[in-house]
Amino acid sequence: MSVITIKKIESENELKFCADILVDAYNGEPWNDEWTRDKALEKLVCFFHSPKFHGWMAFENNKLSGCCVGNIEPYFSGDYFYLKEMFVLTKFQKKGIGKAMMSALREFLSEINIDTIILFTAKDFFPFDFYLKTGFSEMEGMRMMSLSKDNQA
Ligand SMILES: CC(C)(COP(=O)(O)OP(=O)(O)OC[C@H]1O[C@@H](n2cnc3c(N)ncnc32)[C@H](O)[C@@H]1OP(=O)(O)O)[C@@H](O)C(=O)NCCC(=O)NCCS
Repeated sequence: MSVITIKKIESENELKFCADILVDAYNGEPWNDEWTRDKALEKLVCFFHSPKFHGWMAFENNKLSGCCVGNIEPYFSGDYFYLKEMFVLTKFQKKGIGKAMMSALREFLSEINIDTIILFTAKDFFPFDFYLKTGFSEMEGMRMMSLSKDNQA
């Protein structure tokens, strides 16, 4: 029987294990990124040191299989949680681990009276459906923008 347990990330030392999961998850479908463990760890450490960081690890039968991280940001109409990354080992996906992490996150936020979570994802890939299924809706009118050397006018 599969038992999923969720634990809060308490120390920077735990991030190296999360970095391995990030590499596996984002180098797989649908992103096919090229993360190295060092770069993944650098990113997670960066999040960890941002103010009001919160993160969770998911274990399936005691094996670390997923993580999610983000931080609480101030907003004039009420602070929100900015979910920066959520990822599950490719072989462990579609087993309810993402959903379990989202429940733990929402439970934690409701205890501290934060009632909004925001995140960015790509519309054409399956994580979009995952977020719809876990209760999110699209923010009408919003567009993510970037400026880089290759796309300057
Ligand atoms: C997105 C992600 C975190 C979901 O985690 P997960 O543990 O696989 O999700 P769950 O098993 O809890 O699934 C919850 C629901 O989403 C659906 N879902 C999850 N993955 C899906 C997929 N690949 N295709 C279709 N539906 C999917 C499940 O079927 C389930 O729906 P149900 O409640 O109707 O059965 C995981 O797929 C992942 O790590 N992907 C790669 C990294 C990523 O894209 N992260 C998000 C970036 S913004």
